[in-house]
Amino acid sequence: MSETFHVGLGNNDTGLRKKADADFVSFWDEQAKNMSWFSTWEKTLDWTPPFAKWFVGGTINASYNALDVHQTSKSHKSAILWEGENGESRIVTYGEMFTQVKKFANVLKSLGVQRGDRVTIYLPMVPELPIAMLACARIGATHTVVFSGFSAASIKDRVLDSKSKIIVTADGGYRRGKIVRLKDIIDDAIDGLDFVEHVIVLERTKNKISMSSRDKLWTELMSESSDSCDAEKLPSDHPLYILYTSGTTGKPKGVLHGTGGYLTHLYSTFKWAFDIKDSDVFFCTADIGWVTGHSYVVYAPLLHGATQVMYEGAPDFPDVSRMWDILQKYKVTIFYTTPTALRMFMKFGDDVPNSFDLSSLRLLGTVGEPINPEVWKWYFKTVGKEKCPIVDTWWQTETGGMLISPLPGLETIPLKPGSGTLPIPGVSVGIVDENGDDLPANTKGYLVIKNPWPGMLLTLWGDDEKYKTVYWSKYENYYYSGDYARKDDDGYIWLLGRADDVLKVAGHRIGTAELESCMVSHPGVAESAACGIPDDIKGEVIVAFVVLKHGVSKDPAILEKEIYDKIRTGIGAIATPKQIYFVSKLPKTRSGKIMRRLLKAIASHEKIGDVSTLEDGAAVAEVQQVFDEIQKSIEADSR
Ligand code: WTA
Repeated sequence: MSETFHVGLGNNDTGLRKKADADFVSFWDEQAKNMSWFSTWEKTLDWTPPFAKWFVGGTINASYNALDVHQTSKSHKSAILWEGENGESRIVTYGEMFTQVKKFANVLKSLGVQRGDRVTIYLPMVPELPIAMLACARIGATHTVVFSGFSAASIKDRVLDSKSKIIVTADGGYRRGKIVRLKDIIDDAIDGLDFVEHVIVLERTKNKISMSSRDKLWTELMSESSDSCDAEKLPSDHPLYILYTSGTTGKPKGVLHGTGGYLTHLYSTFKWAFDIKDSDVFFCTADIGWVTGHSYVVYAPLLHGATQVMYEGAPDFPDVSRMWDILQKYKVTIFYTTPTALRMFMKFGDDVPNSFDLSSLRLLGTVGEPINPEVWKWYFKTVGKEKCPIVDTWWQTETGGMLISPLPGLETIPLKPGSGTLPIPGVSVGIVDENGDDLPANTKGYLVIKNPWPGMLLTLWGDDEKYKTVYWSKYENYYYSGDYARKDDDGYIWLLGRADDVLKVAGHRIGTAELESCMVSHPGVAESAACGIPDDIKGEVIVAFVVLKHGVSKDPAILEKEIYDKIRTGIGAIATPKQIYFVSKLPKTRSGKIMRRLLKAIASHEKIGDVSTLEDGAAVAEVQQVFDEIQKSIEADSR
């Protein structure tokens, strides 16, 4: 029996679940009325499997719903309480945000951006990032934000795939007190991409940069721009953004999200999970470069006219008290972060959070990876002082918004540390076997979604076939999430990690195939395999096994460094393995598939399971032997 915690906020609207169970389509139809539409829809859902169109015939605009609807009642209300890494602070009201967005929308128009064009945004965590996104949304351009930790090669892939003719970046961004030279990275990334017409450069760090006739300064463009710009009336399924995410193939996939359905999903989940009130101060620690930032930093809080804290830098800079300091300074009431951050905070002991006044907190949340029950309990007790419900929210880039989560803004149910509890109303989740049959309680299986939901991706950008194959081919009628899960006797869902070759390192999604193709681009590397092994803080860390080409006799230490450099420049520092092991062959199945399960077991010191399908059993012994040798030498070095 798992422990349960009874802490609610007094809400109990069971009627909503009943309505949703009776008819999920008319349920979402009701929810969509919370948005402001220019014209109402004729059909709630057009489901031509596996393509869903929500609120067909309706016209809407995301920027209008985020900003115009709050003028003038909230024009003096703070939208963003921005905290710079270096301690600077800035308040952006709903009124200012509105003006800035309209001005930047006109800047984009003046540079020739039209409805349907793509704009790549590569900015640090500053208010101009949501401003640029909303400006795109305002004129019907599709934004594609690239996390500012990604390398030039990663950006190039994304710009090429999305064919963005405009890039928005900054001279630099601050990270752990150092300047990351973003404009230089963009220059490298788009070298030779002639379809890129302009690069708009925000002056954030004021470091010296080179400017060509292609490049324009943000402040100069804005100073000449008018603040009058009506929001375009867009069809409900108009593409709001593309966000690239890692999967099981060598290249990231462009997840495409629409407008009306996506906004409805975010509005509803933000209200149900976070119980948002006008007086709240919300703080989500995610970077906007990831989906959590898109959905629950940019769109959901603004749809509600909420006040939120936005933090520019690293959570432990200049030291591990930074987050608690921010919570105290801004009197944050709702805090949404990751298990990785919590594990790190917990490691430094209770004294750090205990020396701050956290009494403003009333609700806590986590996202991105499974949370260990002991970390959940620490969060509950030490941070929430046993009075804040915790929402463990499960969702994905593809789902757009939360699909499984406690919903204290809607109902009070007992919480179980480590469980995401129940699906949100209007969403049908199944745990099934290889054939798609429902599994009994307490049995591990594949997590699937049985009906379309409003935040669901429209498709993969420019690749409907891949969309079908990745999400809708394992099971014909169910969305395949790629996660393992089980239900308990109370119907609570327990997420059990990825079932495919996608890693979650510190909550960031990294595809092993992408990493492997990057490693084999080193001229000395013949083959490589990456896998994740458990880590106390990051949940998982990467280890890589590398087979060198015949005749390569370089010093392994030099090779190792060169491979690390390849990964940093090919993907970004977040994909750097903790360790690279050089081996002479990799364990494979008879059909030639690398057995990552086996490599993972070896590197995690676990028992090696069934090896009967191995192509060449000797490789297992060899991988084990090389690994043991390396372990021994590491231990000897540290003595
Ligand atoms: C994992 C992040 C357990 C899961 C929003 C999923 C979780 C992947 C949870 C999506 C959670 C997300 N508990 N695992 N509460 N939330 N995951 O696309 O494996 O970056 O498939 O979206 O994160 O990662 P993504």
